[in-house]
Order: sequence, then structure tokens, then C-alpha cells
Amino acid sequence: MIPFLDLKAINSRHKQELIEACSNVIDSGWYIQGQYLNNFEREFAEYCDSDHCIGVANGLDALTLTMRAWKELGKLKDGDEVLVPANTYIATILSVTENRLTPIFVEPDPFTFNIDVKNIEKAITSRTKVILPVHLYGRSAPMREIMAIAKVYDLLVLEDGAQAHGVFCDGKMVGSWSDAAAFSFYPGKNLGALGDAGAVVTSDSALANTIRAIGNYGSERKYVNNIKGVNSRLDEIQAAMLSVKLKTLDSDNNRRRAIAKEYYKRIDNPNIRIAPLDGLNNVYHLFVISTMFREELATLLSSHGIQTLIHYPIPSHGQLAYRELGHLSLPITEKIHQEILSLPISPVMETAHIDLVIDVCNSFSVSNV
Ligand SMILES: Cc1ncc(COP(=O)(O)O)c(C=O)c1O
Repeated sequence: MIPFLDLKAINSRHKQELIEACSNVIDSGWYIQGQYLNNFEREFAEYCDSDHCIGVANGLDALTLTMRAWKELGKLKDGDEVLVPANTYIATILSVTENRLTPIFVEPDPFTFNIDVKNIEKAITSRTKVILPVHLYGRSAPMREIMAIAKVYDLLVLEDGAQAHGVFCDGKMVGSWSDAAAFSFYPGKNLGALGDAGAVVTSDSALANTIRAIGNYGSERKYVNNIKGVNSRLDEIQAAMLSVKLKTLDSDNNRRRAIAKEYYKRIDNPNIRIAPLDGLNNVYHLFVISTMFREELATLLSSHGIQTLIHYPIPSHGQLAYRELGHLSLPITEKIHQEILSLPISPVMETAHIDLVIDVCNSFSVSNV
């Protein structure tokens, strides 16, 4: 069996260090907002080349609280429009609607799966206030072009980096390009906690202070509440775990790149399309191929014990949760959702397993369909 992602194997590599980190937190007697969170926030801000990192409960909150903070700071108001890629995990969209802002779906580039810059400008109206690019599957969105558009139209930019810890875009770390970037540390992410966790990075001090206050009941000083906040904090144990795992994020990402390189070099089948290679500009959170014969290919891979997944089978505007958006026609997004398939990739994947995935992909023939 070749699992899609073997989290036990990924975390077992750090077991002693994780146990020690956990034990240190237990012995400290301080479990929320203490030295381990401070340490991780400092380390991750530095890693992302940003001035501040604010730990929150999960990636969805990282996105939601950033836009909520912009509302508190008077930069956004109900009904303002946020440009989002139409193909993303639904969390991106939920963070917009949770804030009573309006998501405007922008079609992606069919090859890179990332938001298509030429469609961004067409979607801008007098109500547009934010561009929310997603670095989908580990590939950076075209940040230089996005920031240039944002400057012309005076828009805020929030990066969704949930799938892209450690990606460089034109030599600059993802997360340091824009006004703020949101990260998820869900266990399956490239930098994954052992539970839910998330963070915002930003170099805007007012924004950082406001997000921190909102996530802590709206309080900057104990029992003084200036904002109607929520409870969204990254706890000491998860922060300590993340500090352990941050040390190997770059080597893990390099291992993912090496596997992707093999897939690129050796998967050679006219029925399988792979996004254009972008060298180091990708941390391959997912390795996503496209095929008109998805079900058949997934069945063949499964018959060889290879697990695949679809990220994602239904676009947000096709979900019942967004039934009011069901009338939207987004042909590029819809085609992508019909044809994509994610192959196994992870820093602990064995060479024999990589070879088998490649061999089975190459053996796939439409005449068998
Ligand atoms: C693109 C994207 N944005 C946001 C999120 C939300 O992160 P979390 O699950 O930590 O809330 C995810 C998580 O899967 C994601 O993939």
C-alpha cells in the first residue's frame, strides 16, 4: 500500500524531540500564550522575512481575523469585494463571507491552477478592496504582477499561504510580498502541527496588534476589551511542536522537489498533463496532474495499492453551502475540478514507491478504458 500521505512516518522522524518539547511545556506549567508561542512566532516571522507573526487557532482563522482586523481598522466595510481564485479550498471563500464581504471569483490559469492575472483587472470594480491570491498546491501565485495591480487600484493584498510554507516567488519569500499572509499548520500541511494551528505574518504593526487582540477576546490588556473578539490562539504545545518541525521544513520541501523532479522527468503519457515546471518556485504540497480519464487512472493506481485524492472534487460555487452562487459559470475552474488528480508526494516517500507510481502512470492506456 502506498498511502497518499503517511503522517505517522513524517512525525516519527521527530518523535524524541517532539516528546521532549511536549514534556518541557508540561513542566513549564504555562499552556497558553507563553514562551513557546513567542519563540515560534519569532522564528516563523523571521523565516517568512516579516516583522510579525501572530499564532491563531487554524488557517481559516488566520484569513478571517486578518480581514476582520481590516474592518476594525476602518479599511474594509460590509459588502466590499474581495477577488479570490475560483478554484481554491473552500476555507478561502468562507473567510470572506464570514466577514460579510463579497467574494468575486476570478478564473485561474488552466496550466498553473493559480489565479490568472489577466482576469484580475477585468474583475475590479469601485467596490473592490482586496486581492486574495492562493498559492495553490505549493506553487506561488504571480505576486509581482498582483502587487503591481494592487498598487494601481489601491487594493489590499492578503496571501493564502496555507499550502505554501517556504516558497520563493522571484527570490522573495511568499508571505513577505503583501500586506499580510495567512498560513495553516493543519497536520497534513508542509509545516504541520499535531493538531489544528495557524498564523498570520505581516510587517504592519497596527494590523498585527489588532489581529492579536481580536484572537484574544478583543483584549490587548487583560480584562480590558476594546473589540468584540473571539478566542483563536495557538497553544504552547502546538507552538513547541512547530518549532521542532520548522527546523526541517526546507529539507522536507527539497525532498518534495526531488520527487516532483522524478515525476516530471519520467511520467510520459499523452493522457496525463502536468503543470509547467517552475523549478524552486514550488514546494509541491500536492502533485496534481490532469486527465480526461480521472476515474479510470485512479482505479488503475488503486489496483496497484497507490492512494490518490482529488483537490478538490466540487468547486466552492457548486457547493450547497454557496447555493446562492450556483448560477455562476466558471468553465476553466469547472474543467479543472473534473480532471485533476493528486499523486502521492511527501518527504518520507520511498524510492520504490515513486518508481511504482511512475510505472503505473506510464502503463495507463485509454484502450483499457
Ligand atoms: C488554501 C487553504 N486555505 C485555508 C485553509 C484553512 O486551513 P485550516 O484547515 O488550518 O483552517 C486550507 C486548509 O486546508 C487551505 O488549503
